[in-house]
Amino acid sequence: MADTRHQAEKPGYTLVFFLRIYSDNIRSLATFASPESVLPKKYGGTYTVTLIPGDGIGKEITDSVQTIFKDQRVPINWEVVDVSGLSEDHQGVTEAVNSLKRNKVGLKGILYTPTNKTHKSLNVALRKELDIYASLVLIKNIPGVKSRLDGIDFALVRENTEGEYSGLEHQSVPGVVESLKIMTRFKSERIAKFAFDFAKKNNRQLVTAIHKANIMKLGDGLFRTTVKDVGQDYPGIEVNDLIVDNASMQAVAKPQQFDVLVTPNLYGSILSNIGAALIGGPGLVPGANFGREYAVFEPGCRHVGLDIKGQNTANPTAMILSATMLLRHLGLNSHADKISQATHDVILEGNVRTRDIGGTSTTTEFTEAILAKLNA
Ligand SMILES: *[C@@H]1O[C@H](CO)[C@@H](O)[C@H](O)[C@H]1NC(C)=O
Ligand SMILES: *[C@@H]1O[C@H](CO)[C@@H](O)[C@H](O)[C@H]1NC(C)=O
Repeated sequence: MADTRHQAEKPGYTLVFFLRIYSDNIRSLATFASPESVLPKKYGGTYTVTLIPGDGIGKEITDSVQTIFKDQRVPINWEVVDVSGLSEDHQGVTEAVNSLKRNKVGLKGILYTPTNKTHKSLNVALRKELDIYASLVLIKNIPGVKSRLDGIDFALVRENTEGEYSGLEHQSVPGVVESLKIMTRFKSERIAKFAFDFAKKNNRQLVTAIHKANIMKLGDGLFRTTVKDVGQDYPGIEVNDLIVDNASMQAVAKPQQFDVLVTPNLYGSILSNIGAALIGGPGLVPGANFGREYAVFEPGCRHVGLDIKGQNTANPTAMILSATMLLRHLGLNSHADKISQATHDVILEGNVRTRDIGGTSTTTEFTEAILAKLNA
C-alpha cells in the first residue's frame, strides 16, 4: 500500500505531501488534551514556550531555531531552562517541570544519560513527572537525501512512561539483578488509542502492534491484545502485529509495508533509531511527545551528539522540523509551512549541506541558507 502511494507521488509533490502529514498530525492532537488545557496561554499575541537546549549539540541546533524564528518574527517568547544530564545538580529538572507546567508547550534537545551511574535519566524523569506518555516519530524519506530505500513513510507511536523504563532494578543477591518491566492495561489502551486516533486523522490504514509476546507472554501479551481490542473501535483501520525481531528485519528489508507502528517503550526506541538510519540519520527525524496537558517537541531519534558538540557541524533539521510541528500545535501554520518548506528546499538543492548528509557546511551556514531562502 505504501508502495503504491509512493509511486503515485511525483517528484516535487512529495514535499507537499510531507507538509500535509505534519499539519494533519498536529490537528489530531487536540483530542489528547482537554480543550482548556491544550493550548498555552497567549499574552499580547505572544506565546511563551519552554526551551530546554539540553546537552551535546542541543545549544547549536536550538540556536538555529531561535535565529530562524526571530528572523521570521514568530510570536514566541522563549523561556530558556538550562538543565544537563552531565551535572550532579538536578535542580534544573524541577525548574524545567515548573516551566512546562506553566507554558504547556516546550522545545527540547536531548539530555545526556550517563550509563556509569545509578541515577535516573532526566529525559525519562521529565516525561514521567508530566505524564507525557506518547512519543510520535515520523520516518519518511526527505527529498534530496540519498537513502538505500525509497517509499518509506511510517509513523512510530511509542509508549513513554512504563515498560522497560520503569527504573525499577535491584540486586537481590550479589550477581543477580532483577529489572522490572511494567505493563498495564490502562497505559497500553491509552497509547493504542493515541495510535488509532492518529491513524484515523491522517488517513492511515494499518496499525501494527510491536511486541515480544511469544516470550513475554503476560506483559507483551497484554499489550498485543489490548491494541487489537482497541482496534475494534476503529472500523476501517486494519490492525495486525509483529514480533519485534521480525519487525526489525522487516524495517530494513521492506519498510514500505509499515504505516503506523505502536510499541512499548524499548522497542520504540530501537525502531526509531533503525528508522532514522533508513532515511539518512538522526539529524533529519523530527518528533514530539504528548500528554493530556503538555506537548514537548524534540528530535525523534534521541541522540545527544556529545562527540560533535561545539563544532558547529550538527544538522539542525530534526530540531527545526520539530519546531515547525510545535508551530502547528499553536496554530501558527503559515509560519510552519514557510520554515519547513525553506528547510526542505535547501536540502533538495544540495548546495548547503551538513556533514551527516554528505556536505561540508556548518550548522550556521545551513541556518543562513534557510534564512536566505525565507527572505528571497
Ligand atoms: C561518568 O561518565 C561521565 C561522562 O562520560 C563522566 O564525566 C563522569 O566522571 C563519570 N563518572 C564516574 C563516577 O565514573
Ligand atoms: C515476519 O513479517 C512478515 C511481513 O510482515 C510476515 O509475512 C512473516 O510471516 C513474519 N514472520 C514471522 C515468523 O512472524
